[in-house]
Amino acid sequence: MSIDYSEKIPNNVDLAGDRKLQRALESWQPNFLTWWKTMGPAVPTEDVYLRTAVAVGREGWAHFGHVAMDEYRWGVFLAERNHDRRIAFGEQKGEPVWQQVPGEYRADLQRLIVIQGDTEPASVEQQRRLGETAPSLYDLRNLFQVNVEEGRHLWAMVYLLHAYFGRNGRDEAEALLQRNSGDLDSPRMLGAFNEETPDWLSFFMFTYFTDRDGKYQLGSLKESAFDPLSRTCEFMLKEEAHHMFVGTTGIDRVVTRTVELMREHDTEDIAPHGGIPLDVIQKYVNFHYSVSLDLFGSERSTNAANYFTAGLKGRWQEERRKDDHRLTEDAALIDVVRDNQVATEEISALLALNHDLRREYIADCQTGLKRWNRILEKSGLTHRLYLPHVGFNREVGQFREHHVTPKGDVVGPDAWAAKKDQWLPTEADKTHVRSLMRPVYEPGKIAGWIAPPTNGINDKPVDYEYVHLA
Ligand SMILES: [Fe+2]
Ligand SMILES: [Fe+2]
Repeated sequence: MSIDYSEKIPNNVDLAGDRKLQRALESWQPNFLTWWKTMGPAVPTEDVYLRTAVAVGREGWAHFGHVAMDEYRWGVFLAERNHDRRIAFGEQKGEPVWQQVPGEYRADLQRLIVIQGDTEPASVEQQRRLGETAPSLYDLRNLFQVNVEEGRHLWAMVYLLHAYFGRNGRDEAEALLQRNSGDLDSPRMLGAFNEETPDWLSFFMFTYFTDRDGKYQLGSLKESAFDPLSRTCEFMLKEEAHHMFVGTTGIDRVVTRTVELMREHDTEDIAPHGGIPLDVIQKYVNFHYSVSLDLFGSERSTNAANYFTAGLKGRWQEERRKDDHRLTEDAALIDVVRDNQVATEEISALLALNHDLRREYIADCQTGLKRWNRILEKSGLTHRLYLPHVGFNREVGQFREHHVTPKGDVVGPDAWAAKKDQWLPTEADKTHVRSLMRPVYEPGKIAGWIAPPTNGINDKPVDYEYVHLA
């Protein structure tokens, strides 16, 4: 099932066969392009070495080549349909999946799609100015790759809204271009997507921690009984993997360079030597991890239970779970604060599904920490990076009203205020990181605060001209 590129909007959903839908999307397209030009990447380029989806199968789904960014072929691609697919969980487990939206779930499904859709353009807006300080052309290219694909993810959600949700869906698609990250009057829907991404350390942390939240949200929507949503998310996950690769290897390279500078100057305080000290890296981990945890919602959630029971949103790798996939009889433990201590409470497994997804996410986050600590270990350093306690710096859920230290102690407001600067990036930390952000646009050259990548993109050398600036 390859993608039709002769169409104005490349797609594998036979848009040409549905004139009304095609016209609706074609009239949304110029609005998208206007949004891209005003809110998308701020650095003018001639062209960029980008990956474009050309098929949705397992092999060879992407084409690489230099393209002018505003001529990127954003399109609508769904993973292949499995005609035998059945609902894997909830009340209707075992029944055929839905090709249309059942009336009773219309509002809930639309809401899930709008929330997912809102995050996609938000990250493009957050990263808008980063190109001005890229540490290399390789990194600049990766930033733009992430940006165009988040733009495509917006298309993916807008397609579903237009195709399946009628007038309401079209209005929501319009609103996705009206809200903007950090806008005081009409901000993006979720907190983490209104934070700025002012420097490249934040960008790598964002792609590691926040894009990874996206992976888990998409993974649970991929289980949906609404088949077009499932197939859409399945294909998005393919693109998402690269975004997290950018984060993982970006932080690898920052840690590697930090260690080099520490050894070279025989000190932990490498800030005067143009590096990012380990304790600052830790504070950035603390911040980005904690705001990303908020994206999973409350530990106890009747919405999550209802979505699951109805078949709208499943668990991570639902089909690999060894239980009845209905969960009406099961219990689960969630974290709570009791008598000023972190404790657990048993609740119905259905109510604890956000917590379940978050647990999978946390285990996945640990793999990065292991990698980065291996770099420290190999260099003979005893210092280790870590994930702070799940209750640290939280605005959503059970820990919201409490101050919890990175170690997991519940403390009062004074103790929190006294230590906060040791745990979260201070203005001085941010100013230092920002002071290192100077663009390096010469092929093969790299900024002083980060190590070069070990490999180029798509077998191209590291010093390849990934971007031609205008
Ligand atoms: Fe995305
Ligand atoms: Fe992403």
